[in-house]
Amino acid sequence: MGTRKRKWRCTGIKKTCVKRVVVLLVVLNALQFLVYLLHSLGVDGGNNAPPLNFPAIVMRQVSGKPWPRLPSFTPWDLKADLDPASCEAFFGNGFTQPFRLLDPKGLFHCFYSETLRTSICEGTNMVMNPKRIKMAKGGEPLDSVIGRNEEEELPYFTSGAFQIFVPERGGRKPLFNKTLLEYLIPKGTVQEHTLHHLLEQIRTIPLNEVTCAQRVTQPAVVVTRFEYANLFHTVTDWYSAYMTSRIAKLKKRPRLIFVDGHCKSSMDDGWQAMFSGVNFARHLAGPVCFDHLIFAPLGYNTPLFKGVNQGIFCQGCSASDLEKDLQYQTARLREFGEMFTSAFNISSATSSSQEGRVVKVLFIRREDYLAHPRHIGKPESRLSNEEEVLEALNTWASRRASDELNITIVNGLFAHMSMQEQLQQVQQSSIIVGAHGAGLSHILFARPEETAVLELVSPYFVRPHFQAMSQWMGMEYHAIEMGSSEADCSEVIDRVDSILTGLLRKHVIS
Ligand SMILES: *[C@@H]1O[C@H](CO)[C@@H](O)[C@H](O)[C@H]1NC(C)=O
Ligand SMILES: *[C@@H]1O[C@H](CO)[C@@H](O)[C@H](O)[C@H]1NC(C)=O
Ligand SMILES: *[C@@H]1O[C@H](CO)[C@@H](O)[C@H](O)[C@H]1NC(C)=O
Repeated sequence: MGTRKRKWRCTGIKKTCVKRVVVLLVVLNALQFLVYLLHSLGVDGGNNAPPLNFPAIVMRQVSGKPWPRLPSFTPWDLKADLDPASCEAFFGNGFTQPFRLLDPKGLFHCFYSETLRTSICEGTNMVMNPKRIKMAKGGEPLDSVIGRNEEEELPYFTSGAFQIFVPERGGRKPLFNKTLLEYLIPKGTVQEHTLHHLLEQIRTIPLNEVTCAQRVTQPAVVVTRFEYANLFHTVTDWYSAYMTSRIAKLKKRPRLIFVDGHCKSSMDDGWQAMFSGVNFARHLAGPVCFDHLIFAPLGYNTPLFKGVNQGIFCQGCSASDLEKDLQYQTARLREFGEMFTSAFNISSATSSSQEGRVVKVLFIRREDYLAHPRHIGKPESRLSNEEEVLEALNTWASRRASDELNITIVNGLFAHMSMQEQLQQVQQSSIIVGAHGAGLSHILFARPEETAVLELVSPYFVRPHFQAMSQWMGMEYHAIEMGSSEADCSEVIDRVDSILTGLLRKHVIS
């Protein structure tokens, strides 16, 4: 290869020529090395993993769940000249070329997003020392940890909680300097920016000093959950972990490592279904060596959270309707919704083929339930006459029914249903009715072209979440602004009735 390059490149003075070739070779090698590491790593941990070496090069098929086929999928390539205020920068790949930190001693780099003001970082040949992360174990049954402080469930990292191998002997140095870290992962207004603290504590470790109690060869994404028991916040984390996996160009769905000490939650099924397995950091015997570790942004820096807070305008559409400029349109929310429902084996094709002409109206309820160890067991009431509204809907449904059309009102007591059952109901519904509450985040998992949303807005909870999410999905959205926390049943019925008439006219109900 060297001689060919010489012929092709060099006609001038010999010294420059040699320099050029050397530089070229180094660059080519570095590139090859990069491609090699990023795309060949990630097989199952276990006895037959190859020995640790530097660089760890593993040439086997990546294990894990394959990505399902998603009709709204569009590639997540880096796009030069993308406007940071565009919808694609918000919801898709608004990240920069990687900032490399260890070159050429190892591979660790971060993709920065000016839009989200955070980065997705990844490294190969990393070690996690669970004993150097102070937090509760996590994953306990809720009733065994009542009253536990939130601080105990969030990680506190000490030096070397994570390490990255370097080939030479010598010191254990911080991977990041403060200036660079503050640029790549600014703490912003987040009080405990656990990702910033995690990266701050990464130290290099000479390869000959590495010991592994376990080895994970499959790519793994590190996630720290905040507000883990609330569907809206969990959806922002699901979205972020999905986006992270795509930006890291993972060939299969990754394994997840929860670096938090939260107890069991009904949302856990979602994580399990979407990804190739979940481990709590503190459940692993350390040190754990990872061939490829990826760090997902914190919840407060995710597209959904920022999008709601900044009131970003994006019109949801299908991938085929997406015009070339990605400024005001997005198919990313639909792509994510399809990812989530297909992870639960729910396809809209089967859910819409109902017998006869039966329209489902889903009434998403807010109930008294114990959501987390600090919860007093009663969500604030945003709709004080839920029962009455339900009864009115049922009465309307039986009156409105005809030979051509039957209406089923689904009593959406989601706290008592599995995630799969919830998704099934959401996918089968034509109209979703509910008061402002995290449960309405399910609109991301509904059929966008065939479903309408009616939000009952209490004057005490005027928040933009679900109007924004409906718009990003390209879904029909209606609201009733109530005078108090009590809904006027006849107003609700009138609106539901006219929404139904509209849907029938649009022929979206077959
Ligand atoms: C921090 O690291 C960056 C990138 O490696 C480098 O450009 C910068 O000079 C460093 N700053 C300090 C204060 O060391
Ligand atoms: C979906 O189907 C696959 C393959 O049949 C199965 O392995 C998986 O457990 C199912 N997922 C859920 C959440 O039911
Ligand atoms: C509606 O329900 C009634 C009674 O359950 C049934 O006889 C009728 O066939 C249904 N109509 C349609 C269109 O499904």
